[in-house]
Amino acid sequence: MIGLSPEPDHSRSAPSKATVNYAEHVASILNEHCVTCHRPGEVAPFSLIGYENAKKWAPMIGQVTQSHQMPPWKAVPGYADFKDANTLDPVEIETLKNWAESTRPEGDPKKAPPEPSFSSDWTLGKPDMIVSPSKPYRLSAEGPDVYRNFVFHTNNSQPIWVRAIDVKPGNKRIVHHVIAFVDGGSGADGCLKKYADGQEGYSAEMGGLGFLPRSALGGWAPGVRARYAPEGAAFQIPPHGTLVMQVHYHKTGKPEEDQTRLGLYTGPKPEHEVGLNWIFRFDLNIPAGVKNYRVRKVYTYKNDTVVYGAMPHMHLLGRSMKSWFEFPDGTTKPLVFVDDWDFNWQLIYSLKQPIRVPAGTKEVVEAVFDNSLENPRNPNNPPKTVRFGEQTTDEMFLLIVPYTLVRPGELDSQNWLAGP
Ligand code: HEC
Repeated sequence: MIGLSPEPDHSRSAPSKATVNYAEHVASILNEHCVTCHRPGEVAPFSLIGYENAKKWAPMIGQVTQSHQMPPWKAVPGYADFKDANTLDPVEIETLKNWAESTRPEGDPKKAPPEPSFSSDWTLGKPDMIVSPSKPYRLSAEGPDVYRNFVFHTNNSQPIWVRAIDVKPGNKRIVHHVIAFVDGGSGADGCLKKYADGQEGYSAEMGGLGFLPRSALGGWAPGVRARYAPEGAAFQIPPHGTLVMQVHYHKTGKPEEDQTRLGLYTGPKPEHEVGLNWIFRFDLNIPAGVKNYRVRKVYTYKNDTVVYGAMPHMHLLGRSMKSWFEFPDGTTKPLVFVDDWDFNWQLIYSLKQPIRVPAGTKEVVEAVFDNSLENPRNPNNPPKTVRFGEQTTDEMFLLIVPYTLVRPGELDSQNWLAGP
Protein backbone atom coordinates (compact mmCIF):
# COMPACT_ATOMS: atom_id res chain seq x y z
CA MET A 1 0.00 0.00 0.00
CA ILE A 2 2.61 2.50 1.05
CA GLY A 3 3.96 4.44 -1.89
CA LEU A 4 0.87 4.05 -4.03
CA SER A 5 -0.74 7.35 -4.83
CA PRO A 6 -4.47 7.59 -5.44
CA GLU A 7 -5.72 7.55 -9.01
CA PRO A 8 -5.91 11.10 -10.35
CA ASP A 9 -9.47 12.41 -10.47
CA HIS A 10 -10.18 13.17 -14.13
CA SER A 11 -13.77 14.13 -13.45
CA ARG A 12 -12.86 17.52 -11.98
CA SER A 13 -12.08 20.43 -14.20
CA ALA A 14 -11.76 24.15 -13.55
CA PRO A 15 -14.76 26.40 -14.24
CA SER A 16 -14.33 28.47 -17.40
CA LYS A 17 -13.71 32.21 -17.44
CA ALA A 18 -17.40 32.66 -18.32
CA THR A 19 -18.73 30.74 -15.32
CA VAL A 20 -16.13 31.10 -12.58
CA ASN A 21 -17.20 33.15 -9.55
CA TYR A 22 -15.97 33.90 -6.06
CA ALA A 23 -18.79 32.35 -4.02
CA GLU A 24 -18.87 28.94 -5.65
CA HIS A 25 -15.28 28.42 -6.76
CA VAL A 26 -12.72 30.83 -5.32
CA ALA A 27 -13.69 31.35 -1.67
CA SER A 28 -13.21 27.71 -0.66
CA ILE A 29 -9.68 27.63 -2.14
CA LEU A 30 -8.61 30.83 -0.39
CA ASN A 31 -10.20 29.75 2.90
CA GLU A 32 -8.48 26.39 2.87
CA HIS A 33 -5.04 27.37 1.60
CA CYS A 34 -4.43 31.05 2.24
CA VAL A 35 -6.25 32.71 5.12
CA THR A 36 -4.35 30.94 7.92
CA CYS A 37 -1.70 33.55 7.10
CA HIS A 38 -3.66 36.11 5.07
CA ARG A 39 -5.91 37.52 7.79
CA PRO A 40 -5.68 40.48 10.16
CA GLY A 41 -2.90 40.15 12.71
CA GLU A 42 -1.19 37.28 10.86
CA VAL A 43 2.15 37.09 9.06
CA ALA A 44 1.01 37.88 5.55
CA PRO A 45 0.87 41.57 4.65
CA PHE A 46 -2.84 41.62 3.68
CA SER A 47 -6.08 39.71 4.30
CA LEU A 48 -7.70 37.43 1.73
CA ILE A 49 -10.91 36.92 3.72
CA GLY A 50 -14.07 37.91 1.85
CA TYR A 51 -14.91 38.93 -1.70
CA GLU A 52 -13.60 42.52 -1.61
CA ASN A 53 -10.10 41.48 -0.52
CA ALA A 54 -9.95 38.61 -2.97
CA LYS A 55 -11.05 40.85 -5.84
CA LYS A 56 -8.49 43.51 -5.03
CA TRP A 57 -5.65 40.97 -5.09
CA ALA A 58 -6.96 38.74 -7.87
CA PRO A 59 -4.27 39.43 -10.52
CA MET A 60 -1.46 38.78 -8.04
CA ILE A 61 -3.25 35.73 -6.65
CA GLY A 62 -3.27 34.34 -10.17
CA GLN A 63 0.44 35.07 -10.61
CA VAL A 64 1.79 33.75 -7.32
CA THR A 65 -0.22 30.54 -7.46
CA GLN A 66 0.84 29.77 -11.04
CA SER A 67 4.48 30.36 -10.10
CA HIS A 68 4.03 28.17 -6.97
CA GLN A 69 5.28 31.03 -4.80
CA MET A 70 2.06 30.71 -2.76
CA PRO A 71 1.05 28.88 -0.70
CA PRO A 72 4.59 28.58 0.64
CA TRP A 73 5.01 24.82 0.72
CA LYS A 74 8.30 23.75 -0.76
CA ALA A 75 8.23 19.95 -0.68
CA VAL A 76 7.74 18.53 -4.18
CA PRO A 77 4.31 16.84 -4.22
CA GLY A 78 4.42 13.12 -4.88
CA TYR A 79 7.97 12.54 -3.60
CA ALA A 80 6.89 11.79 -0.02
CA ASP A 81 3.57 12.39 1.76
CA PHE A 82 3.45 14.86 4.63
CA LYS A 83 0.94 15.94 7.24
CA ASP A 84 -0.40 19.48 6.81
CA ALA A 85 0.80 19.65 3.19
CA ASN A 86 -0.47 22.93 1.77
CA THR A 87 -0.40 22.77 -2.01
CA LEU A 88 -2.86 23.62 -4.74
CA ASP A 89 -3.73 21.05 -7.38
CA PRO A 90 -3.73 22.04 -11.08
CA VAL A 91 -7.53 22.48 -11.09
CA GLU A 92 -7.38 24.92 -8.17
CA ILE A 93 -4.56 26.87 -9.82
CA GLU A 94 -6.51 27.10 -13.06
CA THR A 95 -9.65 28.17 -11.19
CA LEU A 96 -7.79 31.11 -9.61
CA LYS A 97 -6.22 31.98 -12.97
CA ASN A 98 -9.56 31.95 -14.79
CA TRP A 99 -11.16 34.11 -12.12
CA ALA A 100 -8.24 36.59 -12.21
CA GLU A 101 -8.60 36.84 -16.00
CA SER A 102 -12.39 37.18 -15.93
CA THR A 103 -14.50 40.11 -14.70
CA ARG A 104 -14.04 38.58 -11.20
CA PRO A 105 -17.73 38.27 -10.35
CA GLU A 106 -18.84 37.52 -6.83
CA GLY A 107 -21.60 35.06 -7.78
CA ASP A 108 -24.37 34.32 -5.31
CA PRO A 109 -23.05 35.17 -1.82
CA LYS A 110 -25.46 32.57 -0.38
CA LYS A 111 -23.42 29.89 -2.09
CA ALA A 112 -20.15 31.02 -0.49
CA PRO A 113 -18.75 28.85 2.31
CA PRO A 114 -18.93 30.45 5.77
CA GLU A 115 -16.11 32.83 6.58
CA PRO A 116 -13.50 30.92 8.54
CA SER A 117 -13.18 31.76 12.21
CA PHE A 118 -9.98 31.43 14.16
CA SER A 119 -9.51 30.85 17.84
CA SER A 120 -6.81 32.76 19.64
CA ASP A 121 -6.49 29.96 22.21
CA TRP A 122 -3.71 27.40 22.32
CA THR A 123 -4.67 24.69 19.82
CA LEU A 124 -3.79 21.81 22.15
CA GLY A 125 -5.39 23.39 25.23
CA LYS A 126 -3.61 25.14 28.08
CA PRO A 127 0.09 24.17 28.20
CA ASP A 128 1.59 22.62 31.35
CA MET A 129 4.38 25.19 31.33
CA ILE A 130 4.61 28.58 29.65
CA VAL A 131 7.84 30.52 29.39
CA SER A 132 8.16 34.05 28.12
CA PRO A 133 10.54 36.98 28.52
CA SER A 134 9.50 39.12 31.48
CA LYS A 135 9.06 42.22 29.35
CA PRO A 136 8.56 42.96 25.66
CA TYR A 137 11.66 42.84 23.49
CA ARG A 138 12.21 46.11 21.61
CA LEU A 139 13.13 45.77 17.94
CA SER A 140 14.54 48.75 16.07
CA ALA A 141 12.90 50.05 12.89
CA GLU A 142 15.56 49.22 10.35
CA GLY A 143 18.52 46.99 9.67
CA PRO A 144 19.15 43.29 9.20
CA ASP A 145 16.99 40.56 10.73
CA VAL A 146 17.55 39.78 14.40
CA TYR A 147 17.83 36.29 15.89
CA ARG A 148 17.13 36.77 19.59
CA ASN A 149 17.84 33.93 22.03
CA PHE A 150 15.75 34.04 25.23
CA VAL A 151 17.10 31.84 28.04
CA PHE A 152 14.98 30.03 30.66
CA HIS A 153 16.31 27.82 33.46
CA THR A 154 14.05 24.92 34.38
CA ASN A 155 15.65 24.20 37.79
CA ASN A 156 14.16 20.69 37.74
CA SER A 157 16.01 17.84 39.46
CA GLN A 158 14.35 15.20 37.23
CA PRO A 159 14.11 15.16 33.44
CA ILE A 160 11.11 17.00 31.95
CA TRP A 161 9.46 15.00 29.16
CA VAL A 162 7.97 17.24 26.49
CA ARG A 163 5.15 15.78 24.36
CA ALA A 164 4.51 18.93 22.33
CA ILE A 165 5.36 22.59 22.13
CA ASP A 166 3.35 25.49 20.82
CA VAL A 167 4.27 29.11 20.28
CA LYS A 168 2.18 32.24 20.61
CA PRO A 169 4.01 34.99 18.80
CA GLY A 170 3.42 38.31 20.55
CA ASN A 171 3.67 40.42 17.40
CA LYS A 172 3.07 38.52 14.20
CA ARG A 173 4.24 41.38 12.02
CA ILE A 174 7.80 40.74 13.11
CA VAL A 175 8.04 37.13 14.36
CA HIS A 176 9.23 35.08 11.41
CA HIS A 177 9.97 31.79 13.10
CA VAL A 178 10.79 30.34 16.51
CA ILE A 179 12.93 27.34 17.53
CA ALA A 180 13.13 25.88 21.04
CA PHE A 181 16.60 24.52 21.87
CA VAL A 182 17.79 22.64 24.93
CA ASP A 183 21.17 23.44 26.48
CA GLY A 184 22.57 20.62 28.57
CA GLY A 185 25.52 22.68 29.85
CA SER A 186 26.32 26.32 30.44
CA GLY A 187 26.60 27.48 26.84
CA ALA A 188 23.57 29.74 26.96
CA ASP A 189 24.65 31.37 30.24
CA GLY A 190 28.07 32.09 28.73
CA CYS A 191 26.42 33.74 25.74
CA LEU A 192 24.17 35.87 27.97
CA LYS A 193 27.34 37.40 29.48
CA LYS A 194 29.30 37.59 26.24
CA TYR A 195 26.58 39.32 24.20
CA ALA A 196 24.90 41.37 26.97
CA ASP A 197 23.28 44.47 25.42
CA GLY A 198 20.81 45.69 28.05
CA GLN A 199 17.77 43.72 26.88
CA GLU A 200 16.65 40.25 27.91
CA GLY A 201 18.27 37.35 26.05
CA TYR A 202 21.12 37.78 23.60
CA SER A 203 21.86 38.00 19.88
CA ALA A 204 24.91 36.03 18.80
CA GLU A 205 26.48 36.41 15.37
CA MET A 206 23.74 36.65 12.77
CA GLY A 207 21.47 33.66 12.96
CA GLY A 208 23.59 31.94 15.57
CA LEU A 209 22.92 30.32 18.88
CA GLY A 210 26.53 30.85 19.97
CA PHE A 211 26.92 27.36 21.42
CA LEU A 212 26.18 23.78 20.45
CA PRO A 213 22.82 22.76 21.97
CA ARG A 214 22.03 19.32 23.39
CA SER A 215 18.87 19.06 21.32
CA ALA A 216 15.86 20.95 20.08
CA LEU A 217 12.18 20.56 20.94
CA GLY A 218 10.86 21.79 17.65
CA GLY A 219 9.84 25.04 16.12
CA TRP A 220 7.11 27.25 14.86
CA ALA A 221 6.70 29.10 11.60
CA PRO A 222 3.57 30.62 10.10
CA GLY A 223 1.30 27.83 9.00
CA VAL A 224 2.93 25.22 11.28
CA ARG A 225 0.43 23.56 13.60
CA ALA A 226 1.34 22.27 17.07
CA ARG A 227 1.49 18.47 17.21
CA TYR A 228 2.16 15.86 19.85
CA ALA A 229 5.22 13.66 19.53
CA PRO A 230 4.40 10.14 18.31
CA GLU A 231 2.64 7.84 20.81
CA GLY A 232 5.06 6.62 23.48
CA ALA A 233 7.71 9.22 22.65
CA ALA A 234 8.74 12.61 24.02
CA PHE A 235 11.60 15.09 23.98
CA GLN A 236 13.77 15.38 27.06
CA ILE A 237 14.91 18.42 28.98
CA PRO A 238 17.61 16.94 31.24
CA PRO A 239 17.80 17.84 34.96
CA HIS A 240 18.80 21.49 35.43
CA GLY A 241 18.53 21.95 31.68
CA THR A 242 18.17 25.32 30.04
CA LEU A 243 15.61 26.20 27.40
CA VAL A 244 16.57 28.64 24.70
CA MET A 245 13.78 30.15 22.65
CA GLN A 246 15.24 31.58 19.47
CA VAL A 247 13.01 34.11 17.75
CA HIS A 248 13.83 35.26 14.23
CA TYR A 249 12.60 38.85 13.79
CA HIS A 250 11.97 40.75 10.57
CA LYS A 251 11.97 44.55 10.84
CA THR A 252 9.04 46.60 9.54
CA GLY A 253 10.47 50.11 9.18
CA LYS A 254 8.89 51.12 12.51
CA PRO A 255 10.10 50.35 16.03
CA GLU A 256 8.21 47.28 17.24
CA GLU A 257 7.84 45.22 20.41
CA ASP A 258 7.28 41.52 20.94
CA GLN A 259 6.73 39.18 23.87
CA THR A 260 6.44 35.68 22.43
CA ARG A 261 5.30 32.80 24.65
CA LEU A 262 6.48 29.21 24.41
CA GLY A 263 4.08 26.58 25.77
CA LEU A 264 5.23 23.08 26.78
CA TYR A 265 2.98 20.03 27.09
CA THR A 266 4.67 17.56 29.40
CA GLY A 267 4.04 13.94 30.33
CA PRO A 268 5.46 10.94 32.20
CA LYS A 269 8.70 9.27 31.17
CA PRO A 270 7.95 7.73 27.78
CA GLU A 271 9.20 4.54 26.23
CA HIS A 272 11.23 6.47 23.66
CA GLU A 273 13.09 9.75 23.66
CA VAL A 274 12.77 11.68 20.42
CA GLY A 275 16.17 12.56 19.02
CA LEU A 276 17.18 14.83 16.20
CA ASN A 277 19.73 13.62 13.72
CA TRP A 278 21.59 16.63 12.29
CA ILE A 279 23.10 15.58 8.98
CA PHE A 280 25.70 18.25 8.34
CA ARG A 281 28.62 19.17 6.11
CA PHE A 282 31.10 21.47 7.86
CA ASP A 283 33.51 21.40 4.93
CA LEU A 284 31.41 23.39 2.46
CA ASN A 285 33.48 25.29 -0.04
CA ILE A 286 31.31 26.63 -2.84
CA PRO A 287 33.39 28.11 -5.66
CA ALA A 288 32.59 31.62 -6.91
CA GLY A 289 30.46 31.73 -10.05
CA VAL A 290 29.45 28.06 -10.14
CA LYS A 291 25.74 27.63 -10.87
CA ASN A 292 25.02 23.99 -10.06
CA TYR A 293 27.36 23.09 -7.23
CA ARG A 294 26.38 19.68 -5.87
CA VAL A 295 27.06 18.56 -2.32
CA ARG A 296 26.29 15.11 -1.01
CA LYS A 297 26.43 13.41 2.34
CA VAL A 298 25.68 9.81 3.20
CA TYR A 299 24.79 8.97 6.78
CA THR A 300 24.69 5.32 7.90
CA TYR A 301 22.25 4.37 10.65
CA LYS A 302 23.87 2.32 13.44
CA ASN A 303 20.60 1.24 15.12
CA ASP A 304 17.11 0.23 14.06
CA THR A 305 15.37 3.59 13.94
CA VAL A 306 12.01 5.16 13.13
CA VAL A 307 12.14 8.45 11.19
CA TYR A 308 9.27 10.96 11.44
CA GLY A 309 10.13 13.73 9.01
CA ALA A 310 12.77 16.20 7.94
CA MET A 311 13.67 19.86 8.09
CA PRO A 312 16.08 21.04 5.39
CA HIS A 313 18.23 24.07 6.13
CA MET A 314 20.40 26.11 3.80
CA HIS A 315 21.01 29.83 3.37
CA LEU A 316 20.90 32.10 0.31
CA LEU A 317 22.83 30.02 -2.26
CA GLY A 318 20.87 26.83 -1.56
CA ARG A 319 18.56 25.87 -4.44
CA SER A 320 17.45 22.32 -3.73
CA MET A 321 17.80 19.51 -1.21
CA LYS A 322 16.78 15.89 -1.61
CA SER A 323 17.08 12.98 0.77
CA TRP A 324 16.23 9.30 0.53
CA PHE A 325 16.99 6.01 2.23
CA GLU A 326 18.95 3.11 0.72
CA PHE A 327 18.00 0.05 2.74
CA PRO A 328 20.35 -2.90 3.31
CA ASP A 329 18.14 -5.03 1.01
CA GLY A 330 18.84 -2.68 -1.88
CA THR A 331 15.43 -0.96 -1.96
CA THR A 332 15.05 2.79 -1.54
CA LYS A 333 12.46 5.15 -0.08
CA PRO A 334 12.09 8.92 -0.50
CA LEU A 335 12.20 11.24 2.55
CA VAL A 336 12.02 14.83 1.31
CA PHE A 337 12.66 16.89 -1.84
CA VAL A 338 12.65 20.68 -1.90
CA ASP A 339 13.40 21.85 -5.43
CA ASP A 340 12.94 25.60 -4.98
CA TRP A 341 14.60 26.42 -1.68
CA ASP A 342 13.66 29.75 -0.10
CA PHE A 343 15.47 30.88 3.04
CA ASN A 344 12.31 32.68 4.17
CA TRP A 345 10.37 29.45 4.55
CA GLN A 346 12.02 27.17 7.11
CA LEU A 347 9.41 24.46 7.14
CA ILE A 348 9.26 21.20 9.05
CA TYR A 349 7.93 18.33 6.96
CA SER A 350 6.27 15.59 9.07
CA LEU A 351 5.73 12.28 7.31
CA LYS A 352 2.18 10.94 7.16
CA GLN A 353 3.65 7.49 7.61
CA PRO A 354 6.84 7.28 9.74
CA ILE A 355 9.59 5.23 8.09
CA ARG A 356 11.21 2.24 9.80
CA VAL A 357 14.94 2.33 9.09
CA PRO A 358 16.95 -0.81 9.90
CA ALA A 359 20.56 -0.55 11.11
CA GLY A 360 22.92 -0.32 8.17
CA THR A 361 20.54 1.84 6.11
CA LYS A 362 22.17 4.71 4.31
CA GLU A 363 20.47 8.08 4.19
CA VAL A 364 21.64 10.10 1.21
CA VAL A 365 21.30 13.89 1.27
CA GLU A 366 22.04 15.88 -1.87
CA ALA A 367 21.93 19.63 -2.25
CA VAL A 368 22.53 22.04 -5.10
CA PHE A 369 23.90 25.54 -4.53
CA ASP A 370 23.90 28.39 -7.04
CA ASN A 371 26.85 30.73 -6.50
CA SER A 372 26.46 32.49 -9.85
CA LEU A 373 24.98 35.91 -10.47
CA GLU A 374 21.95 34.20 -11.99
CA ASN A 375 20.89 33.51 -8.41
CA PRO A 376 19.05 36.72 -7.46
CA ARG A 377 19.65 36.00 -3.76
CA ASN A 378 23.44 35.76 -4.13
CA PRO A 379 24.71 38.15 -1.44
CA ASN A 380 28.04 38.72 -3.27
CA ASN A 381 28.53 40.67 -6.49
CA PRO A 382 30.95 39.62 -7.89
CA PRO A 383 30.42 36.13 -6.43
CA LYS A 384 33.05 34.82 -4.04
CA THR A 385 33.87 31.47 -2.50
CA VAL A 386 31.37 30.73 0.26
CA ARG A 387 32.03 28.37 3.18
CA PHE A 388 30.10 26.85 6.06
CA GLY A 389 29.08 29.37 8.72
CA GLU A 390 26.29 30.87 10.79
CA GLN A 391 25.98 34.24 9.05
CA THR A 392 23.22 34.33 6.47
CA THR A 393 25.90 35.16 3.89
CA ASP A 394 27.79 31.96 4.81
CA GLU A 395 26.23 28.69 3.80
CA MET A 396 24.79 25.62 5.50
CA PHE A 397 24.16 22.08 4.41
CA LEU A 398 21.93 20.62 7.08
CA LEU A 399 19.04 18.21 7.26
CA ILE A 400 17.43 17.77 10.68
CA VAL A 401 15.71 14.40 11.04
CA PRO A 402 13.52 13.60 14.09
CA TYR A 403 13.73 9.95 15.12
CA THR A 404 13.31 7.38 17.87
CA LEU A 405 15.22 4.14 18.38
CA VAL A 406 13.22 0.94 17.92
CA ARG A 407 14.74 -0.58 21.07
CA PRO A 408 14.48 1.91 23.91
CA GLY A 409 17.84 3.07 25.08
CA GLU A 410 20.22 5.97 25.22
CA LEU A 411 20.05 7.96 22.01
CA ASP A 412 23.15 7.60 19.96
CA SER A 413 24.91 10.87 20.74
CA GLN A 414 26.63 10.63 17.37
CA ASN A 415 23.26 11.26 15.82
CA TRP A 416 23.20 14.80 17.13
CA LEU A 417 25.99 15.89 14.83
CA ALA A 418 26.45 13.52 11.96
CA GLY A 419 29.16 15.62 10.33
CA PRO A 420 31.84 14.30 8.02
C1 HEC B 1 2.21 30.25 5.64
C2 HEC B 1 1.67 31.56 5.45
C3 HEC B 1 1.07 31.91 4.10
C4 HEC B 1 0.16 31.18 3.37
C5 HEC B 1 -0.50 29.85 3.73
C6 HEC B 1 -0.09 31.95 2.17
N1 HEC B 1 0.65 33.10 2.18
FE1 HEC B 1 0.67 34.52 0.72
N2 HEC B 1 2.11 35.53 1.74
C7 HEC B 1 2.61 35.20 2.99
C8 HEC B 1 3.62 36.16 3.38
C9 HEC B 1 4.38 36.17 4.69
C10 HEC B 1 3.74 37.07 2.32
C11 HEC B 1 4.68 38.27 2.21
C12 HEC B 1 6.09 37.86 1.98
C13 HEC B 1 6.29 37.12 0.71
O1 HEC B 1 5.86 37.60 -0.36
O2 HEC B 1 6.91 36.03 0.76
C14 HEC B 1 2.79 36.64 1.31
C15 HEC B 1 2.59 37.29 0.09
C16 HEC B 1 1.57 37.01 -0.82
C17 HEC B 1 1.29 37.77 -2.00
C18 HEC B 1 2.08 39.01 -2.47
C19 HEC B 1 3.27 38.47 -3.24
C20 HEC B 1 4.25 39.55 -3.62
O3 HEC B 1 5.09 39.24 -4.47
O4 HEC B 1 4.19 40.66 -3.06
C21 HEC B 1 0.19 37.20 -2.60
C22 HEC B 1 -0.53 37.67 -3.86
C23 HEC B 1 -0.17 36.05 -1.79
N3 HEC B 1 0.69 35.97 -0.72
C24 HEC B 1 -1.21 35.20 -2.06
C25 HEC B 1 -1.44 34.00 -1.40
C26 HEC B 1 -2.42 33.02 -1.80
C27 HEC B 1 -3.34 33.18 -2.99
C28 HEC B 1 -2.35 32.00 -0.91
C29 HEC B 1 -3.12 30.71 -0.90
C30 HEC B 1 -3.21 30.01 -2.15
C31 HEC B 1 -1.32 32.34 0.07
N4 HEC B 1 -0.80 33.56 -0.27
C32 HEC B 1 -0.96 31.55 1.16
C33 HEC B 1 2.21 34.12 3.76
C34 HEC B 1 1.36 33.11 3.34
